[in-house]
Amino acid sequence: MTAPATSAARLVQLLGRRESGVPAYRWLADGLRRVIADGRVPAGHALPSERRLSEALDASRTTVTRAYALLVETGFLVARHGSGHVVTLPLGRERLGVGGALLPGTGDAEDVLDLTCAAGRAPAGTAEAYAAALDALPSYLAGTGYATAGLPELRELIAARYAERGLPTAPDQVMIVGGGLAGVGLAVRALSRPGDRVLVESPSYPNSIDATRRSGARLVPLPVDPTGWDLDLAAATIAAATPVVAQFILDFHNPTGALMPDADRERLAAALRRAGTVAVVDETMLEVRLDEGPVPLPFAAHLSRCVLVGSASKSHWGGLRIGWLRVPRPLLPQLAQARIADDLGAPVLEQLALVQLLRRGHGLHPERRDELRAARATMVAALRDALPGARWVTPAGGLFLWVELPEPRANQLAAAARNEDLLVSPGPQFAVSHGLQRYVRLPYKDPPEVVAEAMRRLGRAWRAQASLPSGPVASRPRPVVA
Ligand SMILES: Cc1ncc(COP(=O)(O)O)c(C=O)c1O
Repeated sequence: MTAPATSAARLVQLLGRRESGVPAYRWLADGLRRVIADGRVPAGHALPSERRLSEALDASRTTVTRAYALLVETGFLVARHGSGHVVTLPLGRERLGVGGALLPGTGDAEDVLDLTCAAGRAPAGTAEAYAAALDALPSYLAGTGYATAGLPELRELIAARYAERGLPTAPDQVMIVGGGLAGVGLAVRALSRPGDRVLVESPSYPNSIDATRRSGARLVPLPVDPTGWDLDLAAATIAAATPVVAQFILDFHNPTGALMPDADRERLAAALRRAGTVAVVDETMLEVRLDEGPVPLPFAAHLSRCVLVGSASKSHWGGLRIGWLRVPRPLLPQLAQARIADDLGAPVLEQLALVQLLRRGHGLHPERRDELRAARATMVAALRDALPGARWVTPAGGLFLWVELPEPRANQLAAAARNEDLLVSPGPQFAVSHGLQRYVRLPYKDPPEVVAEAMRRLGRAWRAQASLPSGPVASRPRPVVA
């Protein structure tokens, strides 16, 4: 198959102005590496011929030949018969994607499509942000590097974002941590003791459920439907259990995608206030807003005893491993104490890189938003054929559909999907204790053509699962990372 090609004109535009003082082939090789790393020239795309690119750049043919040779040597290009130079990525797929050495191996073949992880590649501009961070680093090297609450400039930017969202916040209320998951774990451990009751939505993000369970808390599940929260049920559960802490994902809930409106936030806050419960609200998905519509206030604007957890993983990149807490003043000493027992701060370089990214703007990169919208539309259109009779509510944000199957056979579907080289996360993985066999979570973070292929495989798997017996299935699903 001939590889899709990136034109010489597009490359010239992406590369920008020629830098003086650097040999031309170096400038070209560095520029190409940057746009490949950014994904603006995707893996699998062919570069223009050496002749075409040298003409378009008004550079000598030798310049292009040497730059291409350098990229071949460093693993960013391969020479392929019939396609010329094709972009690859220097690390193996398994090391670039999720899982790798950390998760039980699946022995995945090259063309396995993995829908168990709802996270995407880094957006354009990430490599430049790291380069600028590296430039800024020397002035930090004279210090110890231990900024246990985070770099002041990053905390200021994050505090300003809360103020913009209608929640006045001082920088000292912001604590930088190693990602949203670490933030939820830290907040729950700091605010509860082993044996305390902690309210947890079901379904919810499995790793947060697990973190809370491992803290020794007694979990009180609160059912969440694809359409959202039943406020009467929530109020009754909170009143009956009087949990010490209640954890929620209110902005594009994982996995349902639901967004809690302000009026419901107000009612939920009142119920928590009556019970004396502290809320830990995970806003990891907040910035993955795909559609216009109402933007509710942060939950801490409704309830003062609320710790908000933020993350750069979905707005920017999971590889940054940067998240943060927004803590009400009276709870700061408790959180600061617990944090020091956990770790002594987040890496300086990553914080500096995020400062660069946030200075360019908060929220999702517009290109990424367009890609996600297109992928979501493809998934919605293809699902009707793939899973006849399935139901879902298309969310206004987040990265997945929470799909209700016509029959409670999610584990069977996941097992059959494996035979089609497709990995999916069945509903029970998101349950606090059991059930949710009627659901699968389907992320739309891949390009539309990949989503379309995944849906074809899902359709075949759904037809094939009918022959599998009911009850437990032999193969265990892959753990959910994001
Ligand atoms: C609701 C929620 N919280 C936390 C995380 C993990 O975020 P981080 O990479 O910032 O630890 C995820 C990842 O998907 C998530 O969906």
